[in-house]
Amino acid sequence: MYKLKTQAEWIAQAKAVLPAGGFGNFDPEVIIAKGEGSHVWDEDGNKYIDYLIGSGPMLLGHGHPEVLEAVYEQLPKGMTFFANNSQGIALADAICQAVACCQQTRFVTSGGEADMYAIRLARAFTGKTKILKFEGGYHGMSAEAQMSLAPAKAVNFPHAVPDSAGIPTSVAEQMLIAPFNDLDAVASLLAEHDDIAAIIVEPLQRIIPPQPGFLAGLRALCDKHQALLIFDEVVTGFRLAYGGAQEHYGVTPDICTLGKIIGGGFPLAAVGASEDIMRHFDKAIVGADQWLMQLGTLSGNPVASVAGLKTMEILRREGSYQQLRRFGKSLQDMQVSALTKAGIAHQLCGDETLFDIFFTDVPCLDYRSANHKRPDQAAAYQAALRQHGVLKPPSKLYPSLALTDQDLEHTSHAVDKAVDAVVSLG
Ligand SMILES: Cc1ncc(COP(=O)(O)O)c(C=O)c1O
Repeated sequence: MYKLKTQAEWIAQAKAVLPAGGFGNFDPEVIIAKGEGSHVWDEDGNKYIDYLIGSGPMLLGHGHPEVLEAVYEQLPKGMTFFANNSQGIALADAICQAVACCQQTRFVTSGGEADMYAIRLARAFTGKTKILKFEGGYHGMSAEAQMSLAPAKAVNFPHAVPDSAGIPTSVAEQMLIAPFNDLDAVASLLAEHDDIAAIIVEPLQRIIPPQPGFLAGLRALCDKHQALLIFDEVVTGFRLAYGGAQEHYGVTPDICTLGKIIGGGFPLAAVGASEDIMRHFDKAIVGADQWLMQLGTLSGNPVASVAGLKTMEILRREGSYQQLRRFGKSLQDMQVSALTKAGIAHQLCGDETLFDIFFTDVPCLDYRSANHKRPDQAAAYQAALRQHGVLKPPSKLYPSLALTDQDLEHTSHAVDKAVDAVVSLG
């Protein structure tokens, strides 16, 4: 007879067939069996309030009925075509209407791929080579993006350090690394190097907010030095606001990348910019030498497109973003209040739509300061939250629109227990 496996059995099987026992993404000791609304269940039937939400895409929660309906309607009509299709064209149109820097967009399958093309596009457009990136900034898995993403040791700026084996040293020579939120450092680098094609930045770097004037300063410096400004909006797009971080912070980049929410939970991402920049994807206009070859089997996938379109339609409804921010604020307040009452040093870092707590008394400004001074406290807090039915990534908390007042109440209870666990460490 068919026997359901326990979570422990799945974990053992994963260890046999997957290196490091997992997909490389999240704690391999949790095997998710299903998600519904604001909750997920593991293979042992434990229920969690989900603040991981697929690492961002499931902003509406799992299995939103209207998204499901759109997907079910599409499935019998075709799952992938490779060829142009109306669903993908409609999604491109919706993105271009929503996002200030996008007059045109090209679809890819993952956010990291979109970032790779954004960098290549900036090089093609400017004819320059070097890319300025911020320490700790995450832009996927390309060789350039793996530079100084999570360096264990502090090296002198602007030296780039790869965070992965298998990357030729020649890539590091094309990269300049600066501290996030340090406009003077960026200004010096642009003054010293006349071959910088672009600055690539997460406008909200991981969960570190830009200091007032930082993004506008980057914009001005790029204009002054004829470099392009790339906003990696894979996380912030359609999250910080319908028009992304560029709408929320009021600074328009030259190129942006999008992913996660625009695929409604399916694999889809995009790179977008003005027609003038995007013409490098059109060989008939720019000629073979200036052309960026770009294709992908699943690009503009119709199932992902209808899921993304429906998600965006729901997000456009009155009050969506106010509601998301209300949930976020409530989750922030309950944690800050419990930690403050217990006398535990902490910093709340981020935006209401994406944030976390650092166990430190140092304000988080850049990769080196956004750290736990007491990693033991962070570990105890995280473990106790999990034990009390709250699932979140280690250094992020993603609120979703599927949350209910009951979820918030339950989370507040789990937070109190987690704070007790931290206090007991002494
Ligand atoms: C800011 C940012 N850029 C790029 C990526 C890469 O996206 P993907 O995982 O779809 O390749 C991520 C993924 O979390 C991200 O957070």
